[in-house]
Amino acid sequence: MASIARVSCLSIAISLVVSAASAQPSALPDGAGRAVLERHCVACHDLRRPAQALGFDAAGWRELVDTMVDLGGSPDLEVLTEYLAEHFPPRADGGARVVDGPVRIRFREWRVPTRGQRARDPVEAPDGGIWWAGQWGNLLGRIDPATDSMREYPLPTGARPHTVTTDAAGNVWYTGNGNGTIGRLDPATGAVTEYPMPDPALRDPHSMIADARGVLWFTAQNSNMVGRLDPVSGEIRVREVPTPGSRPYGIKLDSRGTPFVACNGGNCLLRIDPATMEIREYRLPDAGSTVRRLAFASDDTIWYVNSRLGRIGHLDPRTGEVREWPSPSGPRSHPYAIAVVDDIVWYNESGVRPDMLVRFDPATEVFQSWPIPSGSIHAGIVRHMRPTRAGDLLVHQSATNRVLLVDLP
Ligand code: HEC
Repeated sequence: MASIARVSCLSIAISLVVSAASAQPSALPDGAGRAVLERHCVACHDLRRPAQALGFDAAGWRELVDTMVDLGGSPDLEVLTEYLAEHFPPRADGGARVVDGPVRIRFREWRVPTRGQRARDPVEAPDGGIWWAGQWGNLLGRIDPATDSMREYPLPTGARPHTVTTDAAGNVWYTGNGNGTIGRLDPATGAVTEYPMPDPALRDPHSMIADARGVLWFTAQNSNMVGRLDPVSGEIRVREVPTPGSRPYGIKLDSRGTPFVACNGGNCLLRIDPATMEIREYRLPDAGSTVRRLAFASDDTIWYVNSRLGRIGHLDPRTGEVREWPSPSGPRSHPYAIAVVDDIVWYNESGVRPDMLVRFDPATEVFQSWPIPSGSIHAGIVRHMRPTRAGDLLVHQSATNRVLLVDLP
């Protein structure tokens, strides 16, 4: 099937769908529901999505639609869900291969308030609260896991936060992917301080991480740049990445606070010198590789997803040595987010339906995997995952407005 992750988010292709079997564009089937779809379903994404989903019965479609738009009380809802269930019924095969195994995990889900916001990138703050970025809803949100209460904070117009992160002091920072800023939110007042980019060439702050001193390191995929923000002086320094089209994406720190970056546009990983911001490139063996995200093991070696080739990989930055393993669901599995918890590798396969959470034990080289739930259906994609201090894992489903805590053994 076509990889959902590679479909442009905002392109609007009314009355085109990609047939799941052939990946060829075809007309959206006729029927009463078609006009309803065109009326309610193009504000956030194009109409190819239904064909890319796993497929559901009417109740399943109703549940999915309700996470995006509120059609409660409208006669359109019945027409739409009947139409979707007729033309996009449950599929036996969404490409995912479930790998059984002995490890038991549990998912705890929160559905966040504003529909269709593309909730993503949950992170645990030092006070135990869980923050998420509502990228399309232009908001940040916080869950109190002790009470399940949630609060959403609107951001300045056009910020469209790509990620949220907290520093050791508990400050809440986001990347303003839409308006070329980094922002800091004061949770007590809801006030936002914006730090505009000093160089207009850096348009799209993307992923970000705070080091032990509170310095923020970030990537800008489309601008092919990386940057750092010193929160004390407010100074921002930016650097262009050496190879054009590298598309710097995920960013993580090794144990000494040195940032490493994944290239979503090519077969590279990047090391940023923390003092000089000089960039060193590490080449991965296969030219066709692209890497969304990376994570460090306790020995400061790197685990990464080879998204385009459907593999996971390991790089030792001291020797440059690389090894890769095919992901269980194959070359189109599009591994996306990745985290290392107690030296076990966790990542997801976003190119297949359902989106699979995969566990890989480097000591035994054994995989195990689970479909990630979204209520009683399976839909959505994990785009970033981060461990909690207790050694569990925070993930999300960007389609169905879910933040999930995965209780690991
Ligand atoms: C307010 C915004 C919004 C509207 C309106 C909207 N959606 Fe979505 N939809 C989303 C988001 C966000 C995603 C996830 C996109 C992503 O992460 O790339 C999504 C993804 C999907 C998916 C993919 C599910 C999967 O398997 O991952 C389907 C199917 C879908 N939408 C159907 C619909 C239908 C049908 C309608 C009209 C009733 C609709 N959407 C209207 C926000 C919206």
